[in-house]
Amino acid sequence: TFTTVAAALKGEHATGSQVTVKGWLRSKRDSKAGISFLAVHDGTAFDAIQAVVPSTLDNYESEVLKTGTGCAVVISGELVESQGKGQSVEIQASAVEVVGWVDDAESYPIAKKRHTFEYLRTQAHLRPRTNTFGAITRVRTTLANAIHNYFHDNGFNWINTPIITGSDCEGAGELFRVSTLDMANPPRAEQGGVDFSEDFFHDEAFLTVSGQLEVEAYCLAMSKVYTFGPTFRAENSNTSRHLAEFWMVEPEIAFADLNDDADLAEDLLKHVFTRVLEEREDDMAFFQQRIDKTVIERLQTVIDNNFERMDYTEAVDILKNCGKKFEFPVEWGIDLASEHERFLAEEHVGRPVVLMNYPRDIKAFYMRLNDDEKTVAAMDVLAPGIGEIIGGSQREERLDVLESRMDAQLKEELWWYRDLRRYGTVPHAGFGLGFERLLNYVTGMENVRDAIPYPRTPGNAHF
Ligand code: 4AD
Ligand code: MG
Repeated sequence: TFTTVAAALKGEHATGSQVTVKGWLRSKRDSKAGISFLAVHDGTAFDAIQAVVPSTLDNYESEVLKTGTGCAVVISGELVESQGKGQSVEIQASAVEVVGWVDDAESYPIAKKRHTFEYLRTQAHLRPRTNTFGAITRVRTTLANAIHNYFHDNGFNWINTPIITGSDCEGAGELFRVSTLDMANPPRAEQGGVDFSEDFFHDEAFLTVSGQLEVEAYCLAMSKVYTFGPTFRAENSNTSRHLAEFWMVEPEIAFADLNDDADLAEDLLKHVFTRVLEEREDDMAFFQQRIDKTVIERLQTVIDNNFERMDYTEAVDILKNCGKKFEFPVEWGIDLASEHERFLAEEHVGRPVVLMNYPRDIKAFYMRLNDDEKTVAAMDVLAPGIGEIIGGSQREERLDVLESRMDAQLKEELWWYRDLRRYGTVPHAGFGLGFERLLNYVTGMENVRDAIPYPRTPGNAHF
């Protein structure tokens, strides 16, 4: 019977049964005694399964001896208890079919056992065959499913907000334009600028930076909703935490305030961490051993403890009085830099911390103004090693206050968003969770470029 590597290693077939596995060679070793050992992986488990191939097979000399790392094979034989240590079962092969050859073993780009992550980024089409990227890929899948399951089980509707949009939710001007105009020779308006009325959408259009504004409309009808999809930002920051294309999870809840929002963030994170530890034991053991010695303990601590919650104002006091020299000086009113965020999460608290109530002037127009009129009901979840993984807020539900924070152009563009405050407005709140930053936190990997299959960064839209 056909089996996956995972099923065979987990003991889903009795020893003595005949099995067939299909996959790629991770390694091969030929012994002098006329036996070859082929390690086969198929993406289903962290470990490869070993096939013991005797020289008595018809194609042993003509083919088996010529195989090597990367070859695609179908191997049939008897499942037997493994002689070697480290794995439970192996296959005593009775047939090896080579489906796909590696045409030149010397030039196979990932033939060597160890490569740097920088190098592997240049081999995005082959890196999923390495054990690290196999593990990342499975954990990414488990996380995505855990997120969808959490929301489904808690009565949220999944809303597919548009990828092409006219609005800049965050107002940071980091938009990628979507256009079919001939940019070498665009139609001109009378004042000389580009005439977008002749463009495909008859107006300017962009890739979304956040589905929040659109999901708010569904929140104010369905009560509990979320988006989970790709998001785009033309931030020119070449850092280990920024991608031009990343995935974001954005829940939005009605009849809710900032504390409800923080409760939801905490509950969601605890749920997904629990699921990953249960479902991906093999991969997490690898990350613990090879990438970050504390990763499992760290996730367990998050699961077992309440999140620390702290006001921005308090955080600024802590940073000013901690005696540490920062590159960027701390004053009430500044947007915290990564060094500040990491100090708070890593050194001061030692666990994720929820910072709340930021100065209004550094935050987006849609965040609810607090009674002090100086701060807004915003929150960021800061994680040790990463910094911000979640950004959210209670939304301004009062039409007059909202409009006082919008300029004339924004008011016109977002007429429909203002409508939501005229027709049955209620307090509501939500947040955005960066999926790749979450995956880095869960695995201990350091660069978000290794948390997405094909990273898009400044200067790199192709490979
Ligand atoms: O803090 P941000 O900008 O919040 C929003 O977009 C809100 N509209 C979300 C909401 O309230 N519904 O982004 C949210 C999260 C960040 O905390 C970060 O984890 C991630 O998105 N993020 C990025 N991840 C990778 N690369 C980038 N360039 C990112 N920019 C933001
Ligand atoms: Mg933010």
